[in-house]
Formats: sequence, structure tokens, C-alpha cells
Amino acid sequence: MKHLAPSFALYLCFLAQELLVSPANAFRVHGELKKKSELSSRSYGRLGRRVPMEGDLQNLGDLNYFANITLGNPPKQIRVLIDTGSSDLTVGDDVPGNQDSGKKADVNYAIGKVSGPIEFATLQFEGFTVPKQAYIKDTTGDQTAGQGIIGLGPNSGSVIQDVIPGNDGNTVLNNIFRTNTSTPNFITVLLGRSNDPTDLFPGDFTVGSVLDGFENITSMPKLPVNEVKTNNGQHWQASLDVNGTIGPDGQPIVLNSRVKGAGQKLVAAFDTGFSLPQVPRAMADAIYGRVPGAELKNLTGVGGGPIYTVPCDAELNITFVLGGVRIPIHPLDTVSDSLGRTDDLGNTICIGAFQPILPSAQSSTFDMLLGMAFLRNAYMLVNFGDFVDGSTKNTNDPYIQLLPITTDAAEAHSDFVSQRLGGLDSTADLQLLPASVLPDVNDGNPTDDNKSFSEKLRPYLPYIIAGSSALGALLIGSILWCCLSSRKPKYQPLHEPAPVGHANAPHQPPPYQSYQPQRRY
Ligand SMILES: *[C@@H]1O[C@H](CO)[C@@H](O)[C@H](O)[C@H]1NC(C)=O
Ligand SMILES: *[C@@H]1O[C@H](CO)[C@@H](O)[C@H](O)[C@H]1NC(C)=O
Ligand SMILES: *[C@@H]1O[C@H](CO)[C@@H](O)[C@H](O)[C@H]1NC(C)=O
Ligand SMILES: *[C@@H]1O[C@H](CO)[C@@H](O)[C@H](O)[C@H]1NC(C)=O
Ligand SMILES: *[C@@H]1O[C@H](CO)[C@@H](O)[C@H](O)[C@H]1NC(C)=O
Ligand SMILES: *[C@@H]1O[C@H](CO)[C@@H](O)[C@H](O)[C@H]1NC(C)=O
Ligand SMILES: *[C@@H]1O[C@H](CO)[C@@H](O)[C@H](O)[C@H]1NC(C)=O
Repeated sequence: MKHLAPSFALYLCFLAQELLVSPANAFRVHGELKKKSELSSRSYGRLGRRVPMEGDLQNLGDLNYFANITLGNPPKQIRVLIDTGSSDLTVGDDVPGNQDSGKKADVNYAIGKVSGPIEFATLQFEGFTVPKQAYIKDTTGDQTAGQGIIGLGPNSGSVIQDVIPGNDGNTVLNNIFRTNTSTPNFITVLLGRSNDPTDLFPGDFTVGSVLDGFENITSMPKLPVNEVKTNNGQHWQASLDVNGTIGPDGQPIVLNSRVKGAGQKLVAAFDTGFSLPQVPRAMADAIYGRVPGAELKNLTGVGGGPIYTVPCDAELNITFVLGGVRIPIHPLDTVSDSLGRTDDLGNTICIGAFQPILPSAQSSTFDMLLGMAFLRNAYMLVNFGDFVDGSTKNTNDPYIQLLPITTDAAEAHSDFVSQRLGGLDSTADLQLLPASVLPDVNDGNPTDDNKSFSEKLRPYLPYIIAGSSALGALLIGSILWCCLSSRKPKYQPLHEPAPVGHANAPHQPPPYQSYQPQRRY
């Protein structure tokens, strides 16, 4: 987002600091990627597509997806987080042969901030060269040397463009599209899943072309980009269908949009810089609140909002619907296994990936931020249309196309069973609690009623226990724990130095350090 771009990478990082018990598991990175020869025979879902054997992104534990750029003369390589949610290039490095603009800029994220002089240098990205690219040289120390963030949003979301209007202050993509008129004005992003037992690949990003095997994306419905008329910054956002989220019980999650005039069509901004999608509280309740053992709780220092923890063996199938197209979410993405935390009883706890939207991430122009956990399930094309300033090309309104990736439900299910359940399929034992345990919903804004969640659960205790025989003692224990001890702090913040666990990047700091503006506990 403009002003809050990579913050969910940040957010999950803070969670990791709080919760991480088993860092080696938590940050499984593409160091585990199989050899090319093992990959080449894989197919991608039911469509029979081949997964690209290697993408040009680097996936760090599903929390950060990086691309390489070079800046300066002689060119210096910098690894940048790809961020469709912001529009500015920011780097932590001194760039050789740079030119100072004499101006400064700040980008405020939901958590954290980048601030410093605006400089110009020669940029190379995805085979394109921009002779004079503006970027912010961060002087806050938050951006590690060798790293940065590349904002892939429109010019109208750019802070640099506010300070230096016109061509000199253009975003990277605006520069590319404006000067290279033979390149179509679109980008595409495919994000890989690091713990997927059958489809391992890091991710890929393209400018002006479509990945081989994914050509069908151009025939998917064109979702118009909702134009933001206020000065809140423009994001790549589009409307879901009415009833466009199907919950784990197979029923639509019925909500009204908080965006003026949007009615029942919730507005989603698509953001490759956010790890955990941010959804209306009532939607997060509907997804996780009925799972026995789920808890919504504050974790100190994680951005000021409660988050759901969910038993790791809960397989939750949810689906989003946009333009009449169903986009199923892989159960490994609905519940995140990236935190090897255990409760008081030693049971492992996972976190829900679709979290109640943080106050600092809320906007009057969208309802939700569909970040990485969503985008691992849809190949995304963003056509900038006439959002390219200074272009002489005859273009149309911008639009987004999404091609569902998780189309083989049986494969996704078996991935889940092998990854989370050690191969033993106990998913049929999951009995969702009745919807009545959820807080009341009032026009998309849940009114927190007086009874706490665990108080509401208490009457259903016998039901829960009877309904989940195979989960047995483990579940009973965790429910009792959930219901009876909810006021007690349940974790010890870990104050150890953050672990370094990247198999093939031993000298790089873990992602939650890289993007950590300051320690929050
Ligand atoms: C990015 O640069 C790093 C360091 O040189 C290199 O290891 C990595 O393979 C590069 N990534 C891609 C996708 O080219
Ligand atoms: C535009 O990009 C294409 C690659 O897509 C490249 O071959 C061509 O040289 C570029 N043209 C300019 C003017 O940069
Ligand atoms: C692409 O779409 C066409 C028509 O919708 C369909 O017949 C074809 O099977 C699709 N191909 C792939 C690889 O998805
Ligand atoms: C949305 O779902 C609700 C509940 O299932 C249903 O009553 C309503 O008709 C649906 N609306 C549309 C437009 O499908
Ligand atoms: C959780 O944190 C928020 C923000 O700090 C606070 O307003 C709220 O009261 C807290 N809730 C609980 C149950 O502690
Ligand atoms: C989730 O979907 C898969 C594939 O359709 C199905 O086998 C599985 O039973 C579903 N799980 C739950 C808990 O609904
Ligand atoms: C909820 O609390 C408010 C004040 O804290 C009180 O006025 C109201 O009666 C309570 N509602 C219920 C249902 O207990």
C-alpha cells in the first residue's frame, strides 16, 4: 500500500519473533527446492500446465518474494521485495554514480517507515534499462544493505511523484512503459509456496509478457481497477462478487462493504508485499471462529490487533469469487504453519492467514488486502491501462486478471495431509462449531458483544468433545485450555536473537530482521 506497503511481511515477522519456537521449520526456504530434473515432470494442477522450473523471484519462507535489480554505475545488485501495494523504489544502499535530487521523502508503512534523500541512478530490472530512475535512499537504517523494496503500484500512489512531479519522479514501471512503447502495459506475478510437497518453485514476475503455460490468463474476466478519487493513494484493487467469499462450511460469508456505494461487493487490494491477507473482522471470524481450539488473541507488539491462532490439523477450504471465477485457496495457505509454536500443553499452534484487518491497514477505499497467502493461489496480471503518466499510447482503463492456480482440490487436500498430518487423513474429524458462537455482525462491522469468545464457546464444550472423537484428548485439552484460561498470558516472548535459518543464504539476515524497523517488544 502506499504508506503501508511491505508491512505484512513485517507483521508476520513480529509474530515470528514472539512465537517462533522452531525456526528451522518456520522458515523453510527455497533452499529445499528439488533439483531441476526432479521438477521438470511436475504438472500444475488439473490444467496440466508445467510449472516454470525456476522463476526469477526468490521466496523467503513465504514471507518475502524478492527480485534482483541493479542500480548505479558501475551497476550494483540489490535484492528488492516486490510490492504491488506501494509505488516507490527504496533501497538501503549507497549507489555508485548516483545523482542527488536535493529533495527528501518518507514512506510510512503500517509498521515501519522509510525516509531519506531522493536520488537518481541507472536502473536495470527484468531486462529493461532506465537511465534516470528516482529512488529513496533510506537513512533510517531499516533497510538492510543490499536490499530494498520495489513498489509496483501506479504513479498516483507514489510518494516520490508527490515530491518530484513529472517524468523525473516516475515510478520504475511508469518509466518502463512510457519509454518502451513496444512493451504492453502490464505486469504478471506468480508466487510459489515454499512448503508445497508437489509444486515447488519460488515465484516469477514479468513485465509485458505472460509466463509460458499460463497464457489463459488473458482470457480471464477483466476486473476493473476501482479508481480512488480521494488522495488516499491508488492501489491495485477490484471488487469481489456479491457473496464472493465461501467459508469453510461451504456457505458464502455475507457481508457489506465499508466502501461507500460498494454495497455487498467487497473491495480487495492485491498486495504482493503483505504476507497475511487482511480481511474484515467478521470474515476472519467466519473462517476461523468456528474451529474448535481457535483463539483470537492479542499478541504483544504485533501491530495492535488481535489475531487468530488455529490448531495446525484444521483443514479449512475457502474460496474467493471474482468476475464469476472461483479461486480456491490451498488449505496450506488458509492456516499458516510458519510458526512452530506450542501451547501450554505442548500442542503445536498455527495461525490463521486471513486475519482481522489491522486498524493501521484499514482504509475507506477497500475492505481487504489480499496478500501473499491469497496470491499463491492465483496468477495475477495487472494491466496499467491509461494509468501510465506521460504515455502517448492509446490505452484503456486499467484492469486485473486472476487465473486460479489451486484447481486440483484433491491434490491440495493430499498436500495438506502429507504436510500437516504426517500422511494420516483425519480431516473428516473436523466439526465446525455452530455459527451462533460468532460475534454478531452489523453491516460488515462486527459489534463486539459483551461475551468473550471463550465464554460463548463454553456451552458447546460437550458438543465439541463429542463431535471430535478422533482428535480426542488432544482436542479436549486444547479446548479446555482455550476456554478456561483465556485471560492468562499464553506465551513467553522470545528475546533471543532472531535465528538465522536460510539454507542457501547463510550470510543474510532472516526476513523479519531485514524489514524490521525497530524491535517492538
Ligand atoms: C539474485 O542475485 C543473487 C545474488 O547474486 C543470486 O544468488 C540469485 O540467483 C539471483 N536471483 C535470480 C532469480 O537471478
Ligand atoms: C523494449 O523492450 C524490448 C524487450 O521487451 C527490447 O527488446 C527493446 O530493445 C526495448 N526498447 C527500448 C527502446 O528500450
Ligand atoms: C485455456 O482455456 C481454454 C478455453 O477456455 C480451454 O479450452 C483450455 O483447456 C485452457 N487451457 C489451459 C492450459 O488451461
Ligand atoms: C448471498 O448469500 C445469501 C445467503 O446464502 C443469500 O441469501 C443471497 O441470496 C446471496 N446473494 C446472492 C446475490 O447470491
Ligand atoms: C488488544 O489490543 C488492542 C490494541 O492495543 C486493545 O485496544 C484491546 O483492548 C486489546 N484487547 C484485549 C482483549 O486485550
Ligand atoms: C477440503 O476439500 C477437499 C477437496 O475437495 C476435501 O477432500 C476435504 O474433505 C475438504 N476438507 C474439509 C474439512 O472440508
Ligand atoms: C453490554 O455492556 C454494556 C455496557 O458495558 C451494557 O450496557 C449492556 O447491557 C451489555 N449487554 C449485554 C447483552 O450484556
